[in-house]
Amino acid sequence: METILKVQDLCKSFGETRVLNNVNFEVEKGEFIAIMGQSGSGKSTLLYSISGMDRPTSGNILLFGNDIAKLNDEKISEVRLKQMGFIFQHSYLLKNLSIKDNIVLPGFKLNKLSREGVNQNVDALLAKTGIENVAGHDIKKVSGGQLQRAAICRALINQPDILFGDEPTGALNSSTSREILDIINRVNNEGTTVILVTHDVKVAARADRIIFLLDGNIHDKLTLGKYDGDKENTYLREKTLYEWLETKGF
Ligand SMILES: Nc1ncnc2c1ncn2[C@@H]1O[C@H](COP(=O)(O)OP(=O)(O)OP(=O)(O)O)[C@@H](O)[C@H]1O
Ligand SMILES: [Mg+2]
Repeated sequence: METILKVQDLCKSFGETRVLNNVNFEVEKGEFIAIMGQSGSGKSTLLYSISGMDRPTSGNILLFGNDIAKLNDEKISEVRLKQMGFIFQHSYLLKNLSIKDNIVLPGFKLNKLSREGVNQNVDALLAKTGIENVAGHDIKKVSGGQLQRAAICRALINQPDILFGDEPTGALNSSTSREILDIINRVNNEGTTVILVTHDVKVAARADRIIFLLDGNIHDKLTLGKYDGDKENTYLREKTLYEWLETKGF
């Protein structure tokens, strides 16, 4: 196993307020991690710090052994564009572009492949996520689930090492949410490391491992192992997780 991410003594304060307090953990390449905890426990702050969206106050964030906390803004942007993909509760697609034009944008920006190469990758992603039929559509004319599929395509266009998500199914109904989770599990099974923040047991039960934050500290961890899509197993994983969370007053 290869370690993809090593977080060492990560602290984050906003003014006098300490939000993350000496957080340490490692993620293996190909793992799917869910970060849980009460509202205000520091989940989003942790995600933003480890993904270079925000700077930690102190500590190291080693991505394949290179400390991204020490990079200047330009280098961090480059690492994020090349090696990381992001999905949020809302898709944040650009309103005046079609679905497909939104997805190709980070590919053109990275400029590693020809435009033709990027377009081929988009077609494969659209097919994989089942939205080929709305590729040319205005983003105002598609459903929330289709928008989130498009956001996943955009996040994956540069074949990132890690896909980060903050409540990626938070705005979706339960059946659409399940479809999005199936896509995320498939992407993970194909080798992309996934790190999601969530309140939702059904989301976290898809992960290999759950990290529980309490007041900016890692309070506990639970290993569930790889998700296999089996219905009975899904139920057992959710039950195990639910009972574990109950012991934490969650
Ligand atoms: N930019 C900021 N400036 C000041 N305080 C902040 C900032 N961002 C977050 N905080 C504070 O840090 C703490 C943790 O916030 P964070 O958003 O990480 O929590 P969370 O676990 O993601 O919560 P939620 O589940 O509600 O999204 C909160 O007390 C919040 O008010
Ligand atoms: Mg949050």
